[in-house]
Amino acid sequence: MSSAKWADAPQGLADRLPLDAIAEALTDHGWWVGDDALPPDLTARLRAELDRLEDEDRLRRAGIGRETDYQLARDVRRDRIRWLNRESAVQAELLDFAGALKDRLNRALFLGLFEFEGHFALYPEGAFYRTHYDSFRGAANRLVSLVLFLNPDWQPDHGGELVLYADDETTERARIAPLDGRLVLFLSEEIPHEVRPTHAPRRSVAGWYRLNTSIGGQIDPPR
Ligand code: OGA
Ligand code: MN
Repeated sequence: MSSAKWADAPQGLADRLPLDAIAEALTDHGWWVGDDALPPDLTARLRAELDRLEDEDRLRRAGIGRETDYQLARDVRRDRIRWLNRESAVQAELLDFAGALKDRLNRALFLGLFEFEGHFALYPEGAFYRTHYDSFRGAANRLVSLVLFLNPDWQPDHGGELVLYADDETTERARIAPLDGRLVLFLSEEIPHEVRPTHAPRRSVAGWYRLNTSIGGQIDPPR
């Protein structure tokens, strides 16, 4: 039975997030973590969708930037991904939520975020994503990163934490277990981060809010 707490449309789900606290955290130190940010039935349907995509062999090895050298990419990251689209109701729901959150972030932080892009990610046992930035300072492309975890029954010895680092890329600032319904937002250009090796299959949605860097009406290629 779904409780009254979650009796909301996707847009309403974004309204439930504590925008003042999020804005303050992003401004103050550059990231925010919220537990139970989305209802468990939605994370369950997202997880089922990711598993369906995996079963149908529709996940692909993730690359790094324009890198086409598979071996090199494999040293950096070993997740399997599929970009979100509106092919199913549950993906549309998540994209509606992300869009509503974008509007709220724009209003709270005067960000002018333009577009959300995101993918499902499955980290098989042993997979990781070495320390990286999601966007490089001044590239003005990805501004805010979003990660939503889809892992009920996650145990501490499963590893797979998302670790956020200071500028030196070694001083840990936060170590975040990928617990179901936990939502992480951070500044893409400011926060080096990694996914520690996972000892159980690890599911997430990772996404980015981009700035409108269009020139002459031409939107730059999303990826
Ligand atoms: C990414 C990323 C983190 C995670 O895909 O760029 O950092 O916890 N993902 O899935
Ligand atoms: Mn990242």
